[in-house]
Amino acid sequence: MDNGVPFMDLKRAYSHYRDKIEEAVLKVLRSGVYLNGPETESLERELAEFLGVTHAVGVASGTEGLHLILQALDLPRDTYVLLPAFTFVATCEVVVRAGISPYFVDIDPKTGNISLDALRDTLVKLRNKGKKVSAVIVVSIFGNPADLINIEEFCKDERLHMIEDICQAFGAELDGKKVGSFGIASATSFYPTKNLSAFGDGGMIFTNDFPLAKKIRYLKEHGQTAPYYYEYHGVNGRIDEIQCAILRVKLREFREELKKREKLAEFYRENLQDLYPYVRFLETLPKAKPAYSIYSLRVERREELKAYLEREGISCRVYYPIPLHLQPIYKDVGFKQGDLPETEALCEEILSIPFFPYLTLEEALKVVQKIRAFYGK
Ligand SMILES: Cc1ncc(COP(=O)(O)O)c(C=O)c1O
Repeated sequence: MDNGVPFMDLKRAYSHYRDKIEEAVLKVLRSGVYLNGPETESLERELAEFLGVTHAVGVASGTEGLHLILQALDLPRDTYVLLPAFTFVATCEVVVRAGISPYFVDIDPKTGNISLDALRDTLVKLRNKGKKVSAVIVVSIFGNPADLINIEEFCKDERLHMIEDICQAFGAELDGKKVGSFGIASATSFYPTKNLSAFGDGGMIFTNDFPLAKKIRYLKEHGQTAPYYYEYHGVNGRIDEIQCAILRVKLREFREELKKREKLAEFYRENLQDLYPYVRFLETLPKAKPAYSIYSLRVERREELKAYLEREGISCRVYYPIPLHLQPIYKDVGFKQGDLPETEALCEEILSIPFFPYLTLEEALKVVQKIRAFYGK
């Protein structure tokens, strides 16, 4: 795009890592081992260490990771799993696929993440109706840590499994602890636009629970517990060696990439914060260190601003225009417009602007200038 600013340009990351990645890929191609080999094993070990957990299991995608966690937990079919409606569809899709009922909870408008107060109220409401709840899926949306410490405590008290969807938040921290190390297990995605990303699909599950990790390993290999002996209904849920080799190359510079994300986020904040109330930011919790994969603003006249920016060559996205509780596929869950007011308000105001580690400050400045010009500032 001439003089335009891309929302994300994956080719820039490729150029940055090209020689090292090509060498790593070639090594795998020449090795003759394409699945369940040394690259997968090493990546699992390195990422478990990075996250501060005892087990990491490589899987085919973030979606498959979340699904395998639910399947391994074997949650009773007559229970509900609570989750936010302000998230990517996969967070909910896996609940339905596991044969359990999803139930939506409103967000904290400050952070955009599931609200603990709403979680408490929803649990009481469902229990009063004689319904059972077995788990909560917590998403740290855009890479901004959710209220993980308090939600973990709440889940312990209420005997609920807490599962983290960290697909947008790999590398983020809360009070010095990595997002993804709270609750019973978490799953991340290596989709090409994510913080730690592959050149295709991939994902990883993290847990400190050895029996759970072991079961997940069986499940992702068709439920095979010994050669051609099947104790579980499993899936083909593997990650491949080429992607793992690429991810290991990128992991070596991951902390520097996180710093670039941090710097860019700071730049946007510093240069846009006086536009309040036209432009507002999602807040971070006091001890949170976000790892933004997507940078989003709450803006007034969203559609007009988006059209203006696109006319000016600045590519923007709306994550997410329609919350999950109002999507046709989840009609049966029984929600209607107005049921999750904070989620619905955010969907009307949210706008995601160009953001990736290889975006230049000149490009970010152009984004800032155009947003300021739109509001006459
Ligand atoms: C919040 C969230 N959950 C789940 C997923 C699914 O990950 P994947 O695309 O690797 O299946 C994504 C990624 O797109 C996501 O953003």
